[in-house]
Amino acid sequence: MRLLVTGGAGYIGSITTRLLLDAGHEVVVIDSLERGHVPAVDRRAVLVKAAIGDTEILDSVLPDIDVVIHCAGYIEVAESQELPDLYYRKNLAEPSMMLDRMLRHGVRRLVFSSTAAVYGQPEVVPIPEEAPTRPINTYGASKLAFERMIAVTEDAGELEAVRLRYFNVAGAWPDGSLGEAHDPETHIVPRILRVAAGDHPTFTVFGTDYPTPDGTCVRDYVHVVDLAEAHRAAVEYLGDGGTGTICNLGSGRGYSNLEVVGECSSATGVEIEVASGPRRAGDPATLVAGIDRAREVLDWAPKRGLGEMVGDAWRWHSSHPAGYAR
Ligand SMILES: NC(=O)c1ccc[n+]([C@@H]2O[C@H](COP(=O)([O-])OP(=O)(O)OC[C@H]3O[C@@H](n4cnc5c(N)ncnc54)[C@H](O)[C@@H]3O)[C@@H](O)[C@H]2O)c1
Repeated sequence: MRLLVTGGAGYIGSITTRLLLDAGHEVVVIDSLERGHVPAVDRRAVLVKAAIGDTEILDSVLPDIDVVIHCAGYIEVAESQELPDLYYRKNLAEPSMMLDRMLRHGVRRLVFSSTAAVYGQPEVVPIPEEAPTRPINTYGASKLAFERMIAVTEDAGELEAVRLRYFNVAGAWPDGSLGEAHDPETHIVPRILRVAAGDHPTFTVFGTDYPTPDGTCVRDYVHVVDLAEAHRAAVEYLGDGGTGTICNLGSGRGYSNLEVVGECSSATGVEIEVASGPRRAGDPATLVAGIDRAREVLDWAPKRGLGEMVGDAWRWHSSHPAGYAR
C-alpha cells in the first residue's frame, strides 16, 4: 500500500517506516524535523520536510495515499504542563487540519500513535481499552482530545482508525542503526544507559515507597520493533476492510524501575549506581497493559522481552553516543 508516516524522522516513526518498507509498502514521510533527524529516515522513503498543518503540502501528498500513520507529536509531560497551548496545537490543532485534508482527498484510514497517558491513574491493572480515560497531564489530555476527534469522525461514517495506545516503548533497530534520540531524554532506558556509558554518575529513581514489590514504580515495556510490527498489522487490517478500534500495545507484564536497572547492568556489564529521589507528582504506582484486543484484532503479540530491548538500545547508544549528530 501507499502510506504516509507523519513524524517519520522521530524515534517510533523512523523504525516503523523502515519496517513498513521492508514489508513491501511505499512510504512518504512528512516531518517538520523540529524534533526529528534526517539520517533516521530510510533512504527508500520519500521525505517531505513540512508540518502536518501545512495544507498545501498535504494537498500534494494525500491524493496518492491509502493509509496515514500519524506518529508526529510532542511527547514531553513536563513541557506539556508548562506549555499547554503548544501541546494542544501540536497534538490536536495540527492533526485536526490534517484529518480535514485527509477526508477531502478521500483518505479514510488512519493509524494513530496514542498513549497509555490517556488513562491517568488506573482503577484496574492490567488496563483494558474500556477503562475510563482521565488523563492527569496536558500531554495525555491533548492526545485524548485527538482520539475524541477521531471517534466523532468515525461516528459520522467518514473514517476508520486504529488508535494504538503505547505503554513504555524501548529498544532500537537490532543492528543499532536507528534508535531513540530525544532532547531532553526523559525515558528510563536511555537515561539508565547514559549512566552505564559514563555520561552521568548515578541514575535517580523517583519514589521508592510505592505499593510495589520493591517500592519503585512498575511499568510495561514494549520493544519498538514489536510496536512497528503492530503498525504494519494495523495498516493491513484497515486495508482488508477492518473497522475502527483501539488497541493497547505493551507486553502485559510489568517491571519495576529497579528491575530495569538490573537488566541494564546485565546488558552492559556495568554496575549502575542508583540514587533515591522523591516521587514525581501524578506517577501511578503500576501501569500494565491488557493486550488481548491487539491479539484478537491485529493478531499481534510482542516477541521481544526487556533483555532484548535493553541490549538493542545499548547497541544504538554505544555506537551513537551523540545520537544522530554523529
Ligand atoms: N516514545 C514513547 O515512549 C511513546 C509512548 C507513547 C506514545 N508515544 C507517541 O508516539 C509518537 C512518536 O513518539 P516518538 O518517541 O517517536 O517522538 P519523537 O519526538 O522522536 O518523534 C516525533 C516526530 O514528530 C515530528 N513532529 C512533531 N510535530 C510535528 C508537526 N506538527 N508536523 C510534522 N512533524 C512533527 C518531530 O520532528 C519528530 O520527528 C508521539 O505521537 C507520541 O505521543 C510515544
